[in-house]
Amino acid sequence: MSTVTQNEMHIGLEALKWRYATKRFNPERELTEETLNSLLEAARLAPSSYGLQPYRIFVIRDRAIREKLREAAWNQPQLTEASYVVVFAHNADFGPELVDDYIDLVARERKTNKENLSGYADFMKSKLLDLPREAKSNWTARQAYIALGNLMYAAAEMGVDSCPMEGFETEKVNEILGLEVQGLSAAVIATVGYRSEDDVTQHYPKVRKSPEVLFEYL
Ligand SMILES: Cc1cc2nc3c(=O)[nH]c(=O)nc-3n(C[C@H](O)[C@H](O)[C@H](O)COP(=O)(O)O)c2cc1C
Repeated sequence: MSTVTQNEMHIGLEALKWRYATKRFNPERELTEETLNSLLEAARLAPSSYGLQPYRIFVIRDRAIREKLREAAWNQPQLTEASYVVVFAHNADFGPELVDDYIDLVARERKTNKENLSGYADFMKSKLLDLPREAKSNWTARQAYIALGNLMYAAAEMGVDSCPMEGFETEKVNEILGLEVQGLSAAVIATVGYRSEDDVTQHYPKVRKSPEVLFEYL
């Protein structure tokens, strides 16, 4: 008899218990393009502050690039053994164009005049443009992590394995992907594919703070 409650099924808690940060992928088992596209769509649908999505997402299959990325990522095998490497690159710095491009998009999608949105645009600019560069960079990186979370959750729901990864040298990754000239910087990486049977870490019990320690009810 299953002990899974209806709530647990609805929000995929079983999937979240099943997933783990995969260390060794099975390089023989590839994600289909359709599955990849579903994962990317989950990332695309992630919410972001003001809706600005201040990042780009690089989907890397190319062997040679992945070899280089592996070197820049402490030689972690996921970079070459997973089906795809997904790099979330945030706008490390930005000017008014970040807001202006978004306003253009909103006007197009909602079939309205840009002029109707000028108050919102000015508000966003007043909050964002005077921030110190470091604060801008931190803020955009945080947005990218939400997209990472969406992708990993979708992956778990579909029985796809993933590993979130911060263990890399940002400058090297930026150089390999030519990010800096685009005003971007690598925030975090997700490798996606299917686990290898030999990955012993899949059998490790999950370690999480207990609800009593983690949650504070007021
Ligand atoms: C932002 C972030 C960066 C991480 N970086 C790495 C990494 O570079 N290499 C790695 O093997 N695991 C990495 N992890 C995986 C964590 O160690 C793992 O999620 C954590 O220990 C909890 O285990 P679980 O995900 O298997 O439940 C990272 C996780 C997150 C969320």
